[in-house]
Amino acid sequence: MKTLLSKEELHDGVARMASDIERAFEGRQLTIVGILTGSVVLVADLIRHIDQPMRVGVIQASSYRGATTTRGDLVINSELMLDIAGRDVLLVDDIFDTGHTLQKVVAKLQDFKPASVSSAVLLRKQGRQEADYEPNFTAFNIPDEFVVGYGLDYEDMYRNLPYLASLEQEDLEKHRSM
Ligand code: IMP
Ligand code: MG
Repeated sequence: MKTLLSKEELHDGVARMASDIERAFEGRQLTIVGILTGSVVLVADLIRHIDQPMRVGVIQASSYRGATTTRGDLVINSELMLDIAGRDVLLVDDIFDTGHTLQKVVAKLQDFKPASVSSAVLLRKQGRQEADYEPNFTAFNIPDEFVVGYGLDYEDMYRNLPYLASLEQEDLEKHRSM
């Protein structure tokens, strides 16, 4: 595995994004909604850098990808989410890749009549975007590599790594024999 962002770089990037968010929402009460499961580490760190009153909730989005590269259907489960009617919502996700996930979750949240919906992502993969949507806050732009750690997984593993690493071919082979 090749380290792409160290623990310190991640910390600094998240702190920087937090100040941008603070500035943008000064004087307003934020409702942070983390997209499960990839955003859990980011949400935990991000909210502790934002020094203003906020509510925190979660929503679940899972795409059932097959063995091929075709995109599976996105299933959004909002049963765990807090009430966002009339609130300024900040959706938080781990990575913005094609953009379809975030675009669909933003659209889904409109059903609950929030005052506004913005979004913040840890990572944005360069040159991969397909959806007609861009996140409002991005901590890092990264090259088009498959990354794990700091909440991001490969087959539900590696979320606990405190750094961000890109998975190389030999890692995938090792993973298979685990
Ligand atoms: P999108 O809908 O293509 O933007 O995909 C976003 C989702 O795909 C993220 O929430 C991740 O769960 C997953 N994903 C995309 N790229 C990566 C990666 O490099 N590592 C781990 N998960 C990824
Ligand atoms: Mg994910």
